[in-house]
Amino acid sequence: MTDLFSPFSLKDVTLRNRIAIPPMCQYSAQDGFTNDWHQIHYASLARGGAGLVIVEATAVSPEGRITPNCLGLWSDEHVEGLARIAASIKAAGAVPGIQIAHAGRKASANRPWDGDDHIADDDPRSWQPIAPSAIAYGQNLPKVPKAMTFEDIERVKADFAAAAQRARDAGFEWLELHFAHGYLAQSFFSAHSNLRDDQYGGDLNGRSRFLLETLAAVRGVWPQNLPLTARFGVIEYDGRDEQTVAESIELVRNMREGGLDLLNVSANFVIADTQIPWATPAFLAPIAQRVRRQAELPVASAWGIDDPQVANRVIEDEQMDLVMIGRAHLSDPHYAFALAKALKQPRPTWILPAPYAHWLERYRGAAA
Ligand SMILES: Cc1cc2nc3c(=O)[nH]c(=O)nc-3n(C[C@H](O)[C@H](O)[C@H](O)COP(=O)(O)O)c2cc1C
Repeated sequence: MTDLFSPFSLKDVTLRNRIAIPPMCQYSAQDGFTNDWHQIHYASLARGGAGLVIVEATAVSPEGRITPNCLGLWSDEHVEGLARIAASIKAAGAVPGIQIAHAGRKASANRPWDGDDHIADDDPRSWQPIAPSAIAYGQNLPKVPKAMTFEDIERVKADFAAAAQRARDAGFEWLELHFAHGYLAQSFFSAHSNLRDDQYGGDLNGRSRFLLETLAAVRGVWPQNLPLTARFGVIEYDGRDEQTVAESIELVRNMREGGLDLLNVSANFVIADTQIPWATPAFLAPIAQRVRRQAELPVASAWGIDDPQVANRVIEDEQMDLVMIGRAHLSDPHYAFALAKALKQPRPTWILPAPYAHWLERYRGAAA
């Protein structure tokens, strides 16, 4: 039976297990550049034993950053630092992935611990966000974005393709397009945020167009032998969930036809007033399974899947192909080692690199 510690192959890439670390913004960059924080953070995570480590949302253009402290890949100068991170993830035995992103109307914000709100318009650090329609998210993010022109749409698609090429040049082997969480692509798909009356709005086809065209632009440059994936919210928890999930699955089928290799199933976060069942462990797992079956595509998913038995069960029950475990890895970068011990893997210590594993076994027996 396939379990959490079974290898997973997609295209020419094989993960050593089904544990993936999802993208988690560090809000610690200047002008999009990596620094020692990122280098140490990602190398530490990869040493912990997960099969896949996905570098945080990395902006395809300066205006696509969530905050002034987000990573970027909008120039060739950004490649070198990210290449060192990709190499250190790979050296630790994990597959290096990266998420490329445009924040849309949620851009130009303060860091979460500095307010998590839009930067004041008169602050020189702020900029004008863009979005499918001139509708603000509201609450802490009140800036009204500029509705994108056709030129803006073409430019952002080209920015995604250029960032994908640079990610490839940096040595990443797994690409995730950020089409989720109320950022630009998700806000094209949602009727809450897309009121366009041209070919990029309206019916399902119109609201899907930006995502499918962006995928096509990236597919044209990302190597065919490496996984091209997307993170996409398939449910808003706004009371219209059956319609949203059904429409989302239709889009995912079309993305599969367009060359998508795996979907990281997430929630929409397009509007603030929703009923997300935070308290239910692995609340997205049944929805991920439905996407997996109906769109006939491998899936990963996150959100509250940090209990060892639950993490193993969602794989054994074929609800998902990979488990994304985020915050538990912030708490313990060696969390995959903790999972291996809890799930009674043979010689769990050897999920860690030899300079750690050898000593843990030498003086204490197999670490239990
Ligand atoms: C600090 C932090 C930063 C995050 N940044 C991103 C991001 O860059 N891209 C993304 O798609 N999700 C992001 N997320 C969501 C995580 O990828 C993940 O879905 C979430 O933490 C739930 O999984 P968990 O319950 O295992 O932590 C972030 C979450 C956290 C805690």
